[in-house]
Amino acid sequence: MTRWLVTGAGGMLGREVTGCLRRAGAAVIGLGRPDLDITDAPAVRAALRRHRPEVIVNCAAWTAVDAAETAPDRAMAVNGDAVRHLALACAAGGARLVQVSTDYVFAGDADRPYDEDSVPAPRTVYGRTKLAGERAVLGLLPEAGLVVRTAWLYGGAGPSFVHTMMRLARAGAGAEVVTDQRGQPTWTGDVADAMIALVQAGAAGICHLTSSGSATWYDLAVEVFSLAGADPGLVSPVRTESRPRPAARPAYSVLGHAATSRPGVPPIGEWRAALRRAWPWLSPLATTVPPASTVAPASRTAAASDNAPS
Ligand SMILES: NC(=O)c1ccc[n+]([C@@H]2O[C@H](COP(=O)([O-])OP(=O)(O)OC[C@H]3O[C@@H](n4cnc5c(N)ncnc54)[C@H](OP(=O)(O)O)[C@@H]3O)[C@@H](O)[C@H]2O)c1
Repeated sequence: MTRWLVTGAGGMLGREVTGCLRRAGAAVIGLGRPDLDITDAPAVRAALRRHRPEVIVNCAAWTAVDAAETAPDRAMAVNGDAVRHLALACAAGGARLVQVSTDYVFAGDADRPYDEDSVPAPRTVYGRTKLAGERAVLGLLPEAGLVVRTAWLYGGAGPSFVHTMMRLARAGAGAEVVTDQRGQPTWTGDVADAMIALVQAGAAGICHLTSSGSATWYDLAVEVFSLAGADPGLVSPVRTESRPRPAARPAYSVLGHAATSRPGVPPIGEWRAALRRAWPWLSPLATTVPPASTVAPASRTAAASDNAPS
């Protein structure tokens, strides 16, 4: 039986990947930040010696997109340098490494989907540090490295934009949400399932794991309000320029899946259908905060603060 190790196992995606593997009966160790700080290279090597994983899924990351703009070294330490340590340790120990990455490696100004081989051109510190992590994995583990780019995630107890909208909808509150940023809302459960299938299919290189189709944050908010049984009219459209943030948000963050489509790895499917499948698994009770770049509370809503999707 394949031995898996998940780093960043306390985060939204890390919890999902660890849970999916456990439910599938896999041998998995999930290490949260208190168990393993991936910036501590000797600790990383020691963890690999101790647990002897065959596959590591790195879900640990600096995900605070705006804060990265004023702390580039700290963001690079987690998203770039630490991933390099992990890849070196995997190369030495003969393990495979799945590195989770992001649509933010692209410029976000295209008018057709970015494929796996599209040229990255990140516009933010966060995007540049995540690209550094990708390059470390692909350079050090050409056969055993898999970079999985995903986007606009929601899952479990969050925090995510979807969770914030659920809370506002259930509170009968309204929200102002941007109409000029387009992407692919994606359930962590779908990413976890597809990622595991990709590993089992022996995939290496870059794969995009997002829902198909595309939506604006406004479209997504309207859908969440409808599913929650609230009046979608409580969601008001606004433009990004009225919500300036330290890190630029991509206007167009749609990923193509050409290189990801392969036997044994079913496509995730359309974003609205995915949200409906995920709905029973989402906990709206978590204390979540919305991405301030994409949503601002209307006059009757609770206060919002920043937790940009990445
Ligand atoms: N959320 C999205 O919409 C989205 C979109 C595209 C790509 N991604 C990527 O998906 C992956 C998972 O993101 P997520 O949404 O699950 O984010 P998350 O909930 O913020 O999880 C990241 C986890 O990494 C941990 N971490 C941070 N620094 C660490 C370190 N030095 N050592 C060990 N653990 C550390 C965090 O712990 P603390 O909480 O204690 O800091 C947190 O538990 C990341 O690679 C992210 O870039 C996310």
